[in-house]
Amino acid sequence: MAFSIPSFGKLFAAPAQSAVGIDIGTSSIKVVQLRRDKGRVVLETYGAIALGPYAGMEVGRATALPAEKVAEALKDVMREANVTTADCALSIPYASSLVSVITLPASLEKQLAQVMPLEARKYIPVPISEVLLDWFVISGGGKSASPNDKMEVLLVAIHNDTIAKFRSIASTAGLNVAFFEIEVFSTARAALDHGIAPVAVVDMGAATTKFYVVERGVIHESHIISRGSQDATLAAARALNTTVADAEQKKRKLGFQGDATIQGAVALSQSLQLTLSSLFSELGRTITAYETSHNQPLGAVVLTGGGATIKGMKEFAQKSIATEVRIADPFAKTQAPAFLEEILKEAGPEFCVAVGLALRRLQENG
Ligand SMILES: Nc1ncnc2c1ncn2[C@@H]1O[C@H](COP(=O)(O)OP(=O)(O)OP(=O)(O)O)[C@@H](O)[C@H]1O
Ligand SMILES: [Mg+2]
Repeated sequence: MAFSIPSFGKLFAAPAQSAVGIDIGTSSIKVVQLRRDKGRVVLETYGAIALGPYAGMEVGRATALPAEKVAEALKDVMREANVTTADCALSIPYASSLVSVITLPASLEKQLAQVMPLEARKYIPVPISEVLLDWFVISGGGKSASPNDKMEVLLVAIHNDTIAKFRSIASTAGLNVAFFEIEVFSTARAALDHGIAPVAVVDMGAATTKFYVVERGVIHESHIISRGSQDATLAAARALNTTVADAEQKKRKLGFQGDATIQGAVALSQSLQLTLSSLFSELGRTITAYETSHNQPLGAVVLTGGGATIKGMKEFAQKSIATEVRIADPFAKTQAPAFLEEILKEAGPEFCVAVGLALRRLQENG
């Protein structure tokens, strides 16, 4: 798949042998270090750390921490995971970015540096001086454009404050940032194959669920549902009459299993079904609406994010969604010891963004 997505703040072009992808989510930080070895990509280490405890909250909860606290957690997880390189790539939350596809006369291709800041004003609600802009011609570019030819340009804008915050986190943690990338592009690289049909990606985070339709590396549609995996935990805590921390633990351990011999497992499963069924019905409707309006079926629905790792998730989701549901398996794109295979498959959805970042960092020096 050709991912020619704009990059931000590229600092150096020296080849990276090892690189670490860093995904700073609202509920946890994920790191994945990969190494290039004779054309193969080898998994060196990976790890995650919950941000809740740094904010006086439970594991699994969404937080809004200042940069210093995030940097502290980042240093902790890098130490625990034994990350050995300072060469990193960082994700930018989708919610902090603006991505649009703009149609322009193809003859303007050479003048995009002048044209795009002007065009961007139509799409960006803040002054252009406050954002970092980048763009990439998706289709219709090329030298032999006649006056009526059109091209599609992907425009990406990120607020300067967001970049500054992430830069400060990285420098406090002693890292060199090779580039920033909006999380959805990292996910697509790590979780999708070379299929032709458009695919829906559902990133199940702590406080929100992000929905994107991706076709050949281009995002066609996206939206954020303001319900996430932490809502399932909070509801389970009420249903089981237990603490949030205990409900979170049970959710991770038992999931949808509903094993009658384990205390609370049936009630937990029922509670999860109750909270998540409305989310999946909504997703099912969104998918049908997309397919109808575009007159094209989606190839698959790929579930990613920590929330997708709940045991039994695939079967449960499939009940509400007619399209084939898959669980993202980003580590399949890396070489790892065979004994880790099962563990990596289970943990995979949580690490999609981090894997995608590290993959690109190794590829771009290839
Ligand atoms: N092993 C697991 N089993 C079940 N649920 C899990 C597991 N690990 C994490 N989760 C759930 O996943 C959620 C966090 O997912 P993720 O780490 O993808 O979110 P995030 O990246 O921090 O959030 P966002 O992308 O919205 O900023 C938490 O609510 C947590 O309960
Ligand atoms: Mg996330």
